[in-house]
This record gives sequence, C-alpha cells and structure tokens, in this order.
Amino acid sequence: MAALILYLLVMSSIQTLQMLNMAAVFASGDLLLARQLTGSGFHRNLETLLTLPESIILQHKSPECSLLLFETLPPGAYADPFQINSLKPFGGPQVLFDRIVNIEAAEFSSKPHELFIFLSLYKHVAAERSSEKTLEVSLPIHARYHKPSVDAKISHSFVTILPPGLYSNCTPSDAADTIMAPCDVNNSSMCLWTHLPYKSNFPVVQLSVPVGQQSDIPLVVVATLFITVTVCAVLVRFLWTSQQETHNKHL
Ligand SMILES: *[C@@H]1O[C@H](CO)[C@@H](O)[C@H](O)[C@H]1NC(C)=O
Ligand SMILES: *[C@@H]1O[C@H](CO)[C@@H](O)[C@H](O)[C@H]1NC(C)=O
Repeated sequence: MAALILYLLVMSSIQTLQMLNMAAVFASGDLLLARQLTGSGFHRNLETLLTLPESIILQHKSPECSLLLFETLPPGAYADPFQINSLKPFGGPQVLFDRIVNIEAAEFSSKPHELFIFLSLYKHVAAERSSEKTLEVSLPIHARYHKPSVDAKISHSFVTILPPGLYSNCTPSDAADTIMAPCDVNNSSMCLWTHLPYKSNFPVVQLSVPVGQQSDIPLVVVATLFITVTVCAVLVRFLWTSQQETHNKHL
C-alpha cells in the first residue's frame, strides 16, 4: 500500500515536471509533437498533437498538400482496420495499412505493422475557419495478448510505441531526407515525401498489459476441460431423451 502511494506520488511529480519542461524548452517557431495514451486496459487511444509553425501552415494550405505521419506499431499492439475504416467518414484518421492485420493473433506470433496516416491541413483549416495551429490525431489501438509469465512477480508486460516519422509532400528538400510512400489513403500512386524534423519531450509512449501466470495454466486447463465435458454430457443426455421421446411417439 505504502509502495503504491509512493509510486503514485512519484508518477504525479514526473508528470508535473514534464509539463513544466514542455513550456520551458521550445521556441515559438518550432514544430512540436506531443504524444499520450488515453484509456486503460487493452483498448487505448494513441493521441498525437502537432503544433505547427506559421511557415508549415502557409506551405500546406493548398488542397494537394498533405502531411504524413508514419507510425510503426510493435508486435504487442495493433490498429483494427475495420474499426479505423468505420471511423473514416466521421472525421476519424485517414489511415493506410501496410499489410493485412490479424487482430486475433497474440503478441509472440505477430510482427510489427506500419500505418500511413494522412493529414490535410487544407481540410482542417477550412473546417475550423481559423488559422488553427494544431493538428490532433486520435488513433484507437489495442494490445495483443502476451505469453503467460513464468515469474509470479511479473504481472504486467510493457509495449513500447516509438515516435512516428513526419513527412510533407509540399516542403522542398535537399533530396537526402526523402522517402517514397503512397500519395493518399487510397494508395492511388506513389509520391516523394520530405522528412520534417520535430521536437518532442517525451515522444515514446508505453502501455502496460496484464499478463497471465504460467502457474495458473493447469488450473485453467482443468477447469475448462471440466466445463466442456459437463456441458457435452448434458447436451448428449438432452438429445438422447428428446430423440427417445420422438421415437416413442412414432411407435
Ligand atoms: C500501394 O500500391 C503499390 C502498387 O501500386 C504497392 O506496391 C504497395 O505495396 C501499396 N502500398 C500499401 C501500403 O498498400
Ligand atoms: C478514396 O476513395 C474513396 C472511395 O473510393 C473516396 O471517397 C475518397 O475521396 C478517396 N480519397 C482520396 C484522398 O483520394
């Protein structure tokens, strides 16, 4: 209990420090990125807040300009294409997946996957009717189940999400810092994207996932087996009696 209180105290002072830091370090012309995970348990929102300098806003006001957030999710987490696509018409993030995502797979049998998230400043500015300087992306993500732990002291596992890459298709560059990536969310063609460096105090976020205990497995197996066998027996008995009754009626 004392340990928990101490932990909470330490965490809250770290958060306060982070906020103070945020206000102190950056100059007004910087491109800033802030990240946080909201929600709890297996279903979270990965929130990304971009604060854009005036120069970037001016460069990206035309409809053919976009920003690209290149996100890599580790094996321990995934975004659900079905969920993302259902949010798209309602202002959800414009996400293109690099592969088919198996949403059933556990952490130890999954690979990382990549997401191309397209941000249109043109649409954003038009919608807000202002010279809004921030762009917010809220990406629903889910944790995958982890292998049960052998060590009874380990009840949680940490999934680390690395900072995203930020790119623009309208910022001129010295060619060295560019990538070829899809032009839009429908992958209609490939475009040259220029890397945009940003500043961020805590770009890496982590989620903790509860893990089962290896020592609980025999109990779980026995209980599952017992329930399965019992239910089967009841079903067989039920079917047998009702068949007998039908049979008797026909006689
Ligand atoms: C986009 O389409 C190209 C072919 O036109 C393909 O090679 C590429 O893998 C696709 N990218 C994604 C992310 O689906
Ligand atoms: C992608 O395709 C959908 C439906 O085919 C369309 O409504 C949307 O405008 C397209 N988006 C882009 C950026 O081309």
